[in-house]
Amino acid sequence: MTYSETSVPAAGKLAAEERSFDTIHDRSQFGSAKWANQWDEFSPRVQGDGLVSLWTADMDFRAPEPVIARLREAVDHGIYGYTKRDPAHYDIVKSWFERRHGWSVGVETLLPAPAIMPSVAAILRTFTQPGDGVIVQAPVYSPYFQVIRDNGRNLLINRLKLVNGAYELDLDDFERQAASGARAFLLCNPHNPAGKAWTREELECLDALCERYGILVISDDIHCDIRLNDRPHIVYSSISDGAAARSFICTAPTKTFNLAGVPAATLSVADPKRREELFQVMQASFMLNANYFGRLALEIAYTSGDPWLEALTPYVRENVRLVCDVAASGLPGVLPMRPDASFLVWLDARELDARVDGVHRFFVERAGVNLYDGRVYGPGGEGFIRLNVGCPRSVLAQALERMTSALRSL
Ligand SMILES: Cc1ncc(COP(=O)(O)O)c(C=O)c1O
Repeated sequence: MTYSETSVPAAGKLAAEERSFDTIHDRSQFGSAKWANQWDEFSPRVQGDGLVSLWTADMDFRAPEPVIARLREAVDHGIYGYTKRDPAHYDIVKSWFERRHGWSVGVETLLPAPAIMPSVAAILRTFTQPGDGVIVQAPVYSPYFQVIRDNGRNLLINRLKLVNGAYELDLDDFERQAASGARAFLLCNPHNPAGKAWTREELECLDALCERYGILVISDDIHCDIRLNDRPHIVYSSISDGAAARSFICTAPTKTFNLAGVPAATLSVADPKRREELFQVMQASFMLNANYFGRLALEIAYTSGDPWLEALTPYVRENVRLVCDVAASGLPGVLPMRPDASFLVWLDARELDARVDGVHRFFVERAGVNLYDGRVYGPGGEGFIRLNVGCPRSVLAQALERMTSALRSL
């Protein structure tokens, strides 16, 4: 089944207030990392006061109303004991991926997981040995570096090639890394920070090399659902039986529905032996009890969240357009990369970076806008900044206005 053949409920069925992503919510009171506790490796003293905060990857929107209602019921119930994921969740997850992405995943391949990164760590610890090489494609989501290094594996960086303002694979370099002792490849699909959805052809090229060098593929699909153009999300394991056999697909509703604080994830492991082995390791690590709220949020989001997502997507798309328009007219030296998916915009600010001696610090100090410093994303991120457009348009407009004024006064 393809996405267009499905009967996704229309956005019009949402209550008007729920469709309004324009409302500004004060997020400072509940310890929000994005608003109350701002820091990163390069700017440890960035503080929230007066800053417009467009950095870490959650959104400033309320979750879908059915999710909130269910969580409210659970809060009011008042007993927050141990929970397990319901076996019915496998059908719910299958149905979600079938209707949103045309991926017909076998329910028997699915495993419950607490979140994406603990799962990546568990997979690495189960199927690779200390010292084994693990490939990542930089610039990339920085905890990838950490999960590889902190688990004693050897980080192998395959730099993406920047061609005419867009990223392309460097397959020659990938092969060099593959031949240098790689045992696993941690794929970000779609890619964070650039929001690039890898094509079937690109994934097939990577898979041919992974097959040749006996490399396992851990695919992190957390950003797959917010699709901003008609490029489909291709799930790695759907490209061939061989790709399915050597891959681990990691999914979660947390980015899609803004549920990072109530996490739950689902893995698909097609190879039965590896699935059993991973299950045993996760069990031995006590990873299988579900988060009480995360379990409920996943269930309701995947069953009732389509109208909300249908309303969110054009809003995010319009925010991306605003960034591109303002950058073209008022941010000389800042070139946005249009994402295929996600609510993140990767800005090539290398020219400005050189002019102002550090573009991230410049926008924090001179504009009062906190973006993510591209250096966090590793080699190739220098001089870039990542802007999170998952916020009310007026907040984004204010940030862009401040950035424009700061540049004007240079
Ligand atoms: C690509 C990517 N993977 C994983 C995560 C985090 O996932 P989790 O919180 O489920 O570990 C993020 C969060 O920003 C992300 O961008």
